[in-house]
Amino acid sequence: MPSANSIVIVRPTARLRGTLQVPGDKSVSHRYAMLAALAHGVSRISGYAPGADCAATLDCLRALGVAVRHEDAATIEISGRGPRGLLQPTGPLDARNSGTTMRLLSGVLVAHALEVELVGDASLSRRPMRRVIEPLCRMGGRIAAAGGDLPPLRISPPAHGVLSGIDYELPVASAQVKSAILLAGLQAQGTTVVREGVPTRDHTERALRAFGVELDAAAGRISIRGGQRPLACALKIPGDSSSAAFLGVAAAALPGSEVWITGVGLNPTRTGWLDVLERAGARIDRDVGGDTGGEPSGTIVVRHGGLGAIRVESAEVPGIIDELPALGALATHGGEIHVTGASELRAKESDRITALVTGLRALGADAEELRDGFIVRGSRRLAGGTADAAGDHRLAMAFAIAALGAREACTITGADAVGVSYPGFFRALEELRA
Ligand code: S3P
Repeated sequence: MPSANSIVIVRPTARLRGTLQVPGDKSVSHRYAMLAALAHGVSRISGYAPGADCAATLDCLRALGVAVRHEDAATIEISGRGPRGLLQPTGPLDARNSGTTMRLLSGVLVAHALEVELVGDASLSRRPMRRVIEPLCRMGGRIAAAGGDLPPLRISPPAHGVLSGIDYELPVASAQVKSAILLAGLQAQGTTVVREGVPTRDHTERALRAFGVELDAAAGRISIRGGQRPLACALKIPGDSSSAAFLGVAAAALPGSEVWITGVGLNPTRTGWLDVLERAGARIDRDVGGDTGGEPSGTIVVRHGGLGAIRVESAEVPGIIDELPALGALATHGGEIHVTGASELRAKESDRITALVTGLRALGADAEELRDGFIVRGSRRLAGGTADAAGDHRLAMAFAIAALGAREACTITGADAVGVSYPGFFRALEELRA
């Protein structure tokens, strides 16, 4: 858990201008590392995300007998052990603050003849796991958890030695759940089908193909044949669209701002925040310049263009789930945001509805908590104050966006939480001040 007492002071600023790159995509990094571990041969991954979450995934894989060699800070070589080839660890695996590590690794491990305990920090230990336990156990997996829901998870060898494919409709729109099932399905007997009513990020589907695995994905139905052998490959991870969002949203908030973000992922299941910014009045350019391992990437330009009232409803939420705190902070600068159908926010690294509204109010905002969302009205300039990130990286960054428009400098407590996804965030923000 990031420490609660690290403090960052964010001064107001007139505008942001400049060009930057953001670190590698966190979601893609987890997937490439896990698939490389299940592949045959040595994979080379560049642009690996520098945050603590993705380091937790590598540490877990090492504990499962996978050789991970760092060529430099962002380039790694992973020697795969093949499907169901991971080794018995000597102690519990620590996913730390990372829900993606715990949920996706559950899908990987449940197919193995291993006894593994997966633990997490205080935040992760409060997050719901039944959503992965239930489908994975239907496949013949064995996972025990406190109350059938909460970490630590105790994973045992499959009841019949091997998993069986299932046809499963996701009850929650969650890419993590979809991915856990697909990773188990890869190592199961027969075909596994996952159906989703609302599209969620499709990095696992793209990553499986990059590793040579055949997959059918169309109209909310993804099907994978078990028993395929993923093959090692060389992949480059684009910049993290969600990290870019916090700087892009900050640019949209401040008159006269113009920020260019290069080499960033432009996967359409991740760029919903740009559509919302456009609705609010920002002027956006996106230019797809390439495709690495099936992930489109390129340049995003965000220019301020006024701030109007925006509404976000349930169908749009999965595509912007990690950017909603940033969009809430945007509205403290003007306009208004009204978000509903987003109760999933309560199951993130913090209760992101309560903690976002509490922190924005502490800075002087007109913010209201709803059962399944929030309203922020930009009717007054923030006075300034102290906001607590509640151990949550996305909230630390969101409060920084709000602070840029306050009358006084603002204090963010627990600011080192940014290390989970974007360790250099505050430095990058400083460099854009114009
Ligand atoms: C992620 C999916 C999202 C997101 C999380 C990362 C992923 O969670 O909030 O930060 O990498 O699949 P859910 O799919 O559970 O909503």
